[in-house]
Amino acid sequence: MQIVTTIEELRSIVKWWRGEGHSVGLVPTMGFLHEGHKSLIVKAVSENDRVVVSDFVNPTQFGANEDLSTYPRDIERDGALCEEAGADVIFHPAPEEMYFEDNCTFVDMNRLTKGLCGKTRPTHFCGVCTVVSKLFNIVTPDRAYFGQKDAQQLAVIRRMVRDMNFNIEIVGCPIVREEDGLAMSSRNTYLSEKERKAALILHKSLTLGEELIQSGEKDAAKVRDAILKNMRTEPLARVDYVEIVDAENLEPVKRIEKPILAATAVYIGKTRLIDNFSCDPRN
Ligand code: PAF
Repeated sequence: MQIVTTIEELRSIVKWWRGEGHSVGLVPTMGFLHEGHKSLIVKAVSENDRVVVSDFVNPTQFGANEDLSTYPRDIERDGALCEEAGADVIFHPAPEEMYFEDNCTFVDMNRLTKGLCGKTRPTHFCGVCTVVSKLFNIVTPDRAYFGQKDAQQLAVIRRMVRDMNFNIEIVGCPIVREEDGLAMSSRNTYLSEKERKAALILHKSLTLGEELIQSGEKDAAKVRDAILKNMRTEPLARVDYVEIVDAENLEPVKRIEKPILAATAVYIGKTRLIDNFSCDPRN
């Protein structure tokens, strides 16, 4: 496995693979990889001849007061995990390699990005769409792999790929959880022991909502309120949002009759965590 830092080198490797007739999978990440990322890489390896993992903490998707400077980084550990998972190349560019100093072109979307996380992170998805478009143009993969944990991001990317005619299959992969239910996230490392325990409230409350839907509840407000009420039993949790939305267009729903996404963002201390479940009440 190779660590590549320049766009030029990566392009020449992909060109060579293409000459050999190989298919190419891309797993975009911001590094500090965990088992959730590993599951994406393993899936990509099983479905493509060659796999690139991008490992880049993308500055344009962080707001002014967010954690860009403290976001955890460990390229050596990432290298070992990628190697073990069977990736061929890690693309690890410096910010200057990805963005010209006078960069003034961005990819943005005027729906899907305004609600949920977009309310508190109004510039976030523009940064995500911009960097993912750039990665798509650099790697030109056949398939790209994203985790369902960032459900809004996955829906946004699917829409961008449709609207911009990227000839890339987007593969969504299930949330990977710790044994006690906490969704894996690089940001979990910010949590103290006490906060780590408190963070279980996200999954517990969502599970309660999911069970309500499974038992036949169709009123979205009732499910949302039950989730919220349970979240509020945890003194260390400060809820940013709990929303039940249409799984495809992310618009809030009143009745649970089509596939929905129930998503939440919660501050545990200073750390903002997200989690969700999707379900199709017709099944
Ligand atoms: O999900 C992430 O880690 C990032 O948002 C992504 C897709 C790698 C873009 O920087």
